[in-house]
Amino acid sequence: MVKQKIILDSDPGHDDAFAILLACYSDKLDLAGVSSCSGNQTIEKTSKNALNLVNYFNRSDIKVAKGSPRPIKREPRICAEIHGESGLDGFTFPKYKEEYNEKNATDFLVDIINNNKDIVMVTTGPMTNLGLAILKDRNILKNIKEIVFMGGSTKEGNVTPAAEFNILVDPEAADIVMNSGVPIRMLGLDVTRKVLVTDEVLNRARQIKTKGGELFVKLMEVFNKNQRDYFGLEAGPLHDPATIVAIINPDVFTWQDMNVKVDTSDTDETGRTICASKEPHNVKVAIEVNVEAYWQEIFKHLEKCI
Ligand code: BDR
Ligand code: CA
Repeated sequence: MVKQKIILDSDPGHDDAFAILLACYSDKLDLAGVSSCSGNQTIEKTSKNALNLVNYFNRSDIKVAKGSPRPIKREPRICAEIHGESGLDGFTFPKYKEEYNEKNATDFLVDIINNNKDIVMVTTGPMTNLGLAILKDRNILKNIKEIVFMGGSTKEGNVTPAAEFNILVDPEAADIVMNSGVPIRMLGLDVTRKVLVTDEVLNRARQIKTKGGELFVKLMEVFNKNQRDYFGLEAGPLHDPATIVAIINPDVFTWQDMNVKVDTSDTDETGRTICASKEPHNVKVAIEVNVEAYWQEIFKHLEKCI
């Protein structure tokens, strides 16, 4: 089986951590690099978390590049209410060597994509780095087989009534991506708010006696508490691994072709993903999820992380 080459750009982040875990352990994927973006926490913190995670996952061979400290046009905006001061509150990593790739994420992405045909680009945070990479070298688009991202919603948002966090933080970057002409798949709140880390899910994870299981339980206990206190949700949604599940097992989701635009105004509507069924279709949007199949993919990979 030929493994699908991917790059993962993320802002870890409790749920991002498990997108990285799946990308590291899936036997269907070849993870060509990880880049960090500012989002859930500052770039210093998300970068350190990304580095800690690949090391914890026994993949110190994977290059990690630091991303832009700020969105393309707007002021940075973090989400410490949910992810805590470190961005990964609830777990203390062993001390690893802090060694980033010498390139910044924009150059790192441009470089890897230009050297790999048919690569899949995954983003689980604000799309700043990918937006900047496209602005720097539009030529990369011909090598991108698909962009798979977590963000947006066909209905209401989670930070404002209109917008989901990843799109709200850098709507200009998301707008560049939506207009890239590359095939895109969107995993937004429509599906990710259905994959809740309920007590039942946590209890099942407690049976997984691996490093992956331990990380999941410790991080999700804090994530859940913060989601309950801040958003009033019954449990935390495990948003970001939906991207990787979509690549390794697309049938977990139901897809609909849509026309997706991003609101880049400076109004209450900023960051809305305006989704319509009219043509031209630029994005396949996940509109439904098989919740049990989703958890099976997550647990299967937690088992592998020993
Ligand atoms: C998204 O925002 C972040 O807080 C999560 O990591 C996820 O990527 C959900 O709106
Ligand atoms: Ca994220």
